[in-house]
Amino acid sequence: MIVASQQSQAGGQEGVQQQENRGLTPAQRATSTRAFLGLGAVPDKAAAERGAPLFEQNCAFCHGPKARGATGPSLITSDEVLADDRGEHLAPFLRKGVLEKGMPAFATMTDGQLTDIAEYLHLQVEDVANRGSYRVLNILVGNAANGKAYVEGHCMTCHTAETFAHIASRFRTPDQLQRNWVWPVREEKITANVKTAGGTISGRVTQISDFRITLQTASGETRMIDRGPRVEVRIEDPLAAHQSLVMTLKNDDLHNVTAYLETQK
Ligand code: HEC
Ligand code: HEC
Repeated sequence: MIVASQQSQAGGQEGVQQQENRGLTPAQRATSTRAFLGLGAVPDKAAAERGAPLFEQNCAFCHGPKARGATGPSLITSDEVLADDRGEHLAPFLRKGVLEKGMPAFATMTDGQLTDIAEYLHLQVEDVANRGSYRVLNILVGNAANGKAYVEGHCMTCHTAETFAHIASRFRTPDQLQRNWVWPVREEKITANVKTAGGTISGRVTQISDFRITLQTASGETRMIDRGPRVEVRIEDPLAAHQSLVMTLKNDDLHNVTAYLETQK
């Protein structure tokens, strides 16, 4: 008891978040939840409303309605979004895209449009932060039996039962599970063969731009190569085939497969 009252006087410290949440107004709770999660400024709701249709037209196809993720990653947990306050990071990011990874450049959008989209994304983060159960309730809407049939018919050409056995126990939420199977982590897996005048270098790609590629070779050496006209780069992405299948999934298939995989504890 004494300890608890000392903690409340200390106010705002992380360890006492749970106790402090009691007896607060919804607005105060939202503010303290935000501080707890390390979130930034309160989103501008009017800007977010202008950003919503822009997001639906330009981004939802890949990032899902409300940015919860589809074939492109969920933007709710994105560092690019969480590190941004008012579009100062996101606007330049969106203008440039990540072309080599399938994220288009939105070079012709105005500053105002990009900032509105940023605010829209911040509001989505906000919604999720304040209603932790939202995603769990909404993502498990599929039919597990249909999902099982889909996996047996479409996934076993490349995978064995081992990929899916206990897959759900590796993730804390169905949301994380879905993100993993739709968009498995690929950073570590992309390799390249680079042919230069001096010979061919192969290794894992750690960085790539229009001008330069950095490889880690089998012996652990880091090689930086400038991409001149005589340099031939061949990228090998083991997930390319998986990705093109996932791009063809209908919404129902997506939900059914997640519902099925969620039963594989
Ligand atoms: C054609 C599909 C596609 C469209 C359309 C698209 N994106 Fe993306 N986006 C991606 C992919 C794929 C990635 C992952 C790139 C990577 O791995 O670095 C990504 C990454 C991102 C990221 C960084 C996520 C992170 O943390 O790494 C943000 C933010 C983002 N997109 C926002 C948007 C916004 C906003 C729009 C609309 C204006 C949009 N995207 C439209 C496919 C798309
Ligand atoms: C054309 C081949 C191909 C098809 C079809 C395919 N995948 Fe994949 N998938 C891959 C490859 C390759 C990887 C990367 C494996 C690795 O790196 O170990 C992968 C990775 C995965 C992973 C991540 C595994 C891990 O341990 O992180 C999951 C989950 C997955 N696929 C699920 C599916 C599901 C579900 C389907 C069917 C809807 C499917 N895949 C269809 C080729 C395929």
